[in-house]
Amino acid sequence: MRRKLVVANRKMNGNLSGNKVFLEALLAGTCDYSNADYVVCVPHPYLFQAESILKGSPIAWGGQNMSRYESGAYTGSVSPSMLVEFGCEYVIIGHSERRQRGHDTDLSTGERFEAATKAGLKPIFCMGETLAEYEEGITDIVTIRQLNAVIHEIGVQGLAKGVLAYEPVWAIGTGKAASPEHAQNVLSFLRGHIEVLDAELAQNIRILYGGSVKADNAEKLFSMPDIDGGLVGGASLNTEEFVSICQAAGRI
Ligand code: PGA
Repeated sequence: MRRKLVVANRKMNGNLSGNKVFLEALLAGTCDYSNADYVVCVPHPYLFQAESILKGSPIAWGGQNMSRYESGAYTGSVSPSMLVEFGCEYVIIGHSERRQRGHDTDLSTGERFEAATKAGLKPIFCMGETLAEYEEGITDIVTIRQLNAVIHEIGVQGLAKGVLAYEPVWAIGTGKAASPEHAQNVLSFLRGHIEVLDAELAQNIRILYGGSVKADNAEKLFSMPDIDGGLVGGASLNTEEFVSICQAAGRI
């Protein structure tokens, strides 16, 4: 039985005082909902703060990106071991906002996935089609291409060290979430693809849905058999709303 997982992707938002209120409310709001797992991905400067507030609690924290390199002349980048040093358990890899601006490619996401697992981090690997690709009816082709890039780099077994997230680009930040049925179909297709390669892994790997997850659609989405939780952007900026999304996962 896969445990539900809810991940806050706070993107480039927050400040010391607001983060403190958010993290403390999250600790209080999830303590009676221990059936699910919760992760907060904050901008790098706030990792120390996340560690100080969440250390010793069941809530994990992580980065939103990292370099595939361990050290060197990469101005502005952060290495996997730096994230580990600040207690991160997770790191988001291949978010569409980074793919679209050309920072990430299929090849580099595969390399980053591998670098993260080598450092002991759990990558949250994002896949998803654009609106044009959705309208063309090639969601399956796009997501499989993105997933295969990682499998090519680390082998199918390597996926076990991370979490997958299907995030249709047209649903991110638009308020137009995919219907639970659409998300379920894509996740079931992705799980089926993994099943052909490794049936046990397909049963165990967590696959999240992301894209306009809100308090009022979380329960329906998370109740679908293949949706193991959510990657939540905008709604993680509203403390009350995010806590209620976490509680929806914890209730299932
Ligand atoms: P959203 O973002 O919840 O604001 O749509 C999700 C994400 O970008 O991970």
